[in-house]
Amino acid sequence: MQAARALTLEDLTSFCVRRGFFFPSGRIYGGLRGFYDYGPLGAELRKEVLDDWWYYFVRRRVDVVGIHGCIITHPKTWEASGHVEAFFDYLVTCTKCGKEYRADHLLEDLGIKVPALSAEAISSAIKEKGVRCPECGGELGEPVPFNLMFSTYVGPKRTKANEAYLRPETAQLIFLNFRDVYYTVGAKLPFGIAQVGTVFRNEISPRGFLFRLREFTQMEIEYFVNPKKLDECPFFDEVAQMKAKILTAEAQEAGSEQHSVLTLQEAWESGLVKTKWHAYWIGESLKWLGRIGINLERVRVREHVKSELAHYAVQTFDIEYYFPFMGWKEIIGISNRGDYDLRRHQEYSGKSMAVEDDGEAVIPHVIEPSFGLERVLLALIVDAYKVVGGRPILSLHPRVAPIKVAVFPIVDKPEFTKKAWSVYVAVKEHFTAIYEEKGTIGRRYYDADEIGVPFAVTVDGRTLEDDTVTVRFRDTKEQIRVPISELIPTLKRLMGREGVDRGSGAGAGI
Ligand code: GAP
Repeated sequence: MQAARALTLEDLTSFCVRRGFFFPSGRIYGGLRGFYDYGPLGAELRKEVLDDWWYYFVRRRVDVVGIHGCIITHPKTWEASGHVEAFFDYLVTCTKCGKEYRADHLLEDLGIKVPALSAEAISSAIKEKGVRCPECGGELGEPVPFNLMFSTYVGPKRTKANEAYLRPETAQLIFLNFRDVYYTVGAKLPFGIAQVGTVFRNEISPRGFLFRLREFTQMEIEYFVNPKKLDECPFFDEVAQMKAKILTAEAQEAGSEQHSVLTLQEAWESGLVKTKWHAYWIGESLKWLGRIGINLERVRVREHVKSELAHYAVQTFDIEYYFPFMGWKEIIGISNRGDYDLRRHQEYSGKSMAVEDDGEAVIPHVIEPSFGLERVLLALIVDAYKVVGGRPILSLHPRVAPIKVAVFPIVDKPEFTKKAWSVYVAVKEHFTAIYEEKGTIGRRYYDADEIGVPFAVTVDGRTLEDDTVTVRFRDTKEQIRVPISELIPTLKRLMGREGVDRGSGAGAGI
């Protein structure tokens, strides 16, 4: 028997474009690198994942509230945050053809490791290994830092004084609003502020389809804790016994890629994860990935080595997914940011960022789970994509499947189509649904399987006699018979929609 061929990036991209999940933005003009538009299925998938994230991390919880900040942000924000100074990648340019490369990616693609991401280390690696322009063989210039923030002008005058930045992370808007939120909701430490929104990074070399974009969506929480209570997490029991594959900084520094399997209790007790709250948020993030259907066997947790830590980070763990065409790649970053951001904003604004806890003024420390939506979607689709009997099936969890129900008449004849259409209209009140009457019923099932529809409802001969329909399950092909009067509650039960239903309208109290 032939072994299943691994999914390639080309397979995935063409599948997603062909079925209307994503389109290269400005495709009729040749596309704009690093920008993708969501098609009809992508837009629904995006909404399902965002809604479930918001439900799980905000509405369901008693200790997290959400905000929605601006995209164009006060320039001082990014001076204070350190992004003006430190948010850059090294760029090398070919002295012959002028092609530009992100230096660390160029070296990585050639299998060359640099001890640190500094101009000196990159420059000497290029010289020692004789690296030349992959395009024309020309000599490469010296690496120069390239700041990733997009800027624009506020108002008609295009002067330096009017320059502002498009946010490269949602996090800073949370820090700017921290005290206002704290006082308006009457919060007490520990508590979190969440935000979902678009961010922009002028990546030197966008690549990997949705993996490295110039415009993308972040789902972030900044969780504020009294620095004396970083190990007092009342929810820790909910994650303590979860096992995770953890690749430590120590192992990587010794040249190993071998992970250890540890419970989060062990990871914290051994001192590997420095604070209990940090271990808790790693656990919660893993739990949510499992909840939306990602196979946790293909997920690992990797600690950042010292040289890759962001300028604000005390300690960072990435949650990585194993992509068959790229290997292990970060989809979520979970950082201990200490009090870096609040202190810097206090210093740059002259406004106190301290709040009262246990009768003392404290500047809280922050644990930050930061999710890239498009990377989560990429992992979801890769994880769900299977070829069974030569046909693609997208085994998406019903919780996030963009279309939940397909409704079909068994054949294209008025007595069936009329009834099936009325079922479709009733189903659509509750779920995203599609209707199709053309083609063989087998063909229509396969089409629905390919876009991940978990349940197909068919109106057949027996329906006309006893008002029942069949419900077919995408993954097992099993069918059950259900009275039409029971169809909606049955589908709701099959979908486990508790999050979606309970989520609407409930505010999070603190
Ligand atoms: N506030 C922290 C922060 O922004 P980050 O590791 O730079 O940290 C967080 O970004 C997440 O955003 C990443 O884990 C990744 O999922 C996503 N992300 C970062 N750069 C991206 C890009 N160019 N394209 C798509 N997603 C990206």
